[in-house]
Amino acid sequence: MTSFPFEGLPVPPEPPAPSALPRVVGRPLFAGRTAVVTGGGAGIGAGIVRALAWHGAQVVLADIDAEAARRTAGQAAEESGVEPVVVVGDIRDPARIAELTEAAGPADFLVNNVGDHRPAGPFLTSAEADWQQTYELNLLHVLRVTRAFLPKMAERGSGGIVNLTSVEGMRGIPGNAVYGAFKAAVINFTASLAAEVGQYGIRVNAVAPDLTDTPQTPMWAGTPAKYADQVGRWVPAGRYGHPADHGDAVVFLLSEQSRFVTGTTLRVDGGTLAAPGWFRRDERRFTNMPRPLR
Ligand SMILES: NC(=O)c1ccc[n+]([C@@H]2O[C@H](COP(=O)([O-])OP(=O)(O)OC[C@H]3O[C@@H](n4cnc5c(N)ncnc54)[C@H](O)[C@@H]3O)[C@@H](O)[C@H]2O)c1
Repeated sequence: MTSFPFEGLPVPPEPPAPSALPRVVGRPLFAGRTAVVTGGGAGIGAGIVRALAWHGAQVVLADIDAEAARRTAGQAAEESGVEPVVVVGDIRDPARIAELTEAAGPADFLVNNVGDHRPAGPFLTSAEADWQQTYELNLLHVLRVTRAFLPKMAERGSGGIVNLTSVEGMRGIPGNAVYGAFKAAVINFTASLAAEVGQYGIRVNAVAPDLTDTPQTPMWAGTPAKYADQVGRWVPAGRYGHPADHGDAVVFLLSEQSRFVTGTTLRVDGGTLAAPGWFRRDERRFTNMPRPLR
């Protein structure tokens, strides 16, 4: 549920969750497939877990937050009838990755979802320890977990990988330069790996979110009440994102519907990156010049 906090204002529409794509009764899209989702306990990861489970995948959900992991696993089980396997622990810890590969076995799909832009701050006063922390949360585990699951996919001659990057890996993000750099690295890793492993029947793609209401970026909680009714005009798609938007994007990228799509980064951002540098002046006009905003 979107955490819309404003009484008296119309609640913005939410996409159908867990998926807008009807489930195929009898033989769901991902029947017999195993899908690993890191950070699947809350936010976008939870949206992905619920969508993949809805379409019949046996999900293996890894999260540092045991309560969130169990809550989402329970919800997915209730919706889809298949209980996700939960692995609790810090994905930055190689021992947890070993546990995850053990629990999942030869997975068909891998979704590297863990990432965090916090703490933010000017590069001018940042320290190497901050860069290392950002590296470990946004890139290092993506390499490690992928390296752990890839050999069995290659052996079997099929597999699908989706990495969560950000629109901030495609444009600058003032106050978060190191995070932006590692998210850009995820985009290039996705493209380079796709080129390498296409020969084994493995596709690798990325999803770049923006403005999605999650525990990490609680969009509504951060929107002053007096601007709440402006959101529909600021975001080209007319609303903030919902984890289910990403769930369906990942369903597409892991399904046969995208069989000729690999190495790409799909922006799931409601259109925010479609015209960067252009600012809305009023209901009809935009500007890319310094002008008073009305
Ligand atoms: N929300 C957005 O608008 C947005 C925008 C751009 C990019 N992203 C990217 O999408 C991904 C998901 O973002 P979100 O907003 O849903 O995040 P979130 O912080 O709301 O949820 C992250 C989940 O991962 C788990 N997690 C965090 N650190 C972990 C660790 N070390 N080991 C295991 N689990 C861990 C958390 O417990 C939580 O369940 C991230 O990679 C993020 O950078 C999100």
